[in-house]
Amino acid sequence: MPAFTATAPAKIILFGEHAVVYGQPAIAVPVSKVQTRVMVSATPLAKPGEVRLQSPLVGLDTTLPQLDPAHPLAKTIAALLEHLKIARLPACSIRISSNIPVAAGMGSGAAVTVAMLRALSAFLGHPLADETVSALAFEVEKVHHGTPSGIDNTVITYRRGVYFVKGQPIQFLTTPRAFTILIADTGTPSPTSITVGEVRKAWQTEPARYENIFERIGQIVHQARKSIENGAIKPLGRLMDENHSQLQELGVSSPKLDQLVEVARRNGALGAKLSGGGRGGNLIALVESDQEELAASALREAGAVNVIATQVGI
Ligand code: PMV
Repeated sequence: MPAFTATAPAKIILFGEHAVVYGQPAIAVPVSKVQTRVMVSATPLAKPGEVRLQSPLVGLDTTLPQLDPAHPLAKTIAALLEHLKIARLPACSIRISSNIPVAAGMGSGAAVTVAMLRALSAFLGHPLADETVSALAFEVEKVHHGTPSGIDNTVITYRRGVYFVKGQPIQFLTTPRAFTILIADTGTPSPTSITVGEVRKAWQTEPARYENIFERIGQIVHQARKSIENGAIKPLGRLMDENHSQLQELGVSSPKLDQLVEVARRNGALGAKLSGGGRGGNLIALVESDQEELAASALREAGAVNVIATQVGI
């Protein structure tokens, strides 16, 4: 019996996080250097229907009935079975491995869901179309995020850069000139559902003030799209800086994020901002290739626990 394996990349949001939940556009790209892999193999000697789930990274080794039905992995399996109108999985073993940092704004949850949907649907003999993978993953994202925009499942499913507006058809982005982004991890895990919930509360208290910020972020994203599509990379740095200021206004930055953003800017980056839910997790910095090493080592010295360089050639 062959094993069925699927992978899914991480993602970073270049522009527009949080405002995207309120209908503004956002730009995100896949990061293939870090991946989640799910391997499904039949276990014909196990009891019928016995499903073993292992994810060494998070210390998970259990069987499906033992898993809380509200757990994202249980939700993923339930959503798939319901879609395929299959009552239960045949006996199998599901092994998840990943080098995507967890709760760091890189879409680790969505990557597990997407890889799992692909590997399991192939194992069941019903490989799913991208559109279905993304739609099912969106349902599971609600468990992670509460009120997700859908950007994570979209970028991760399609593995392409997107200009994303909630509820609208996907617009893929292209650029005539690739550029380099450093992704630096503050080392502070920060679940997105918390910052998304806090922004929602703040918006409910002061709707006009927050909608103003969301709109300004939307304008920045619009300009960033034009720059990317024209291959005008330098202006993207200034736009990142402006986007970071607006995220500070939203209250989702942190002293560590602000400090590392400053370090990147002082060490050759054209611009820098937090990326994803904020409060912890990752920041991103736009660098020219001759400044990459300088900025990366300055970030490491200033306390970034991990720095990844990724080429955006969307
Ligand atoms: O990068 P993450 O997984 O933290 O994504 C967060 C993006 C938000 O805009 C804050 C939320 C969302 O659902 O779009």
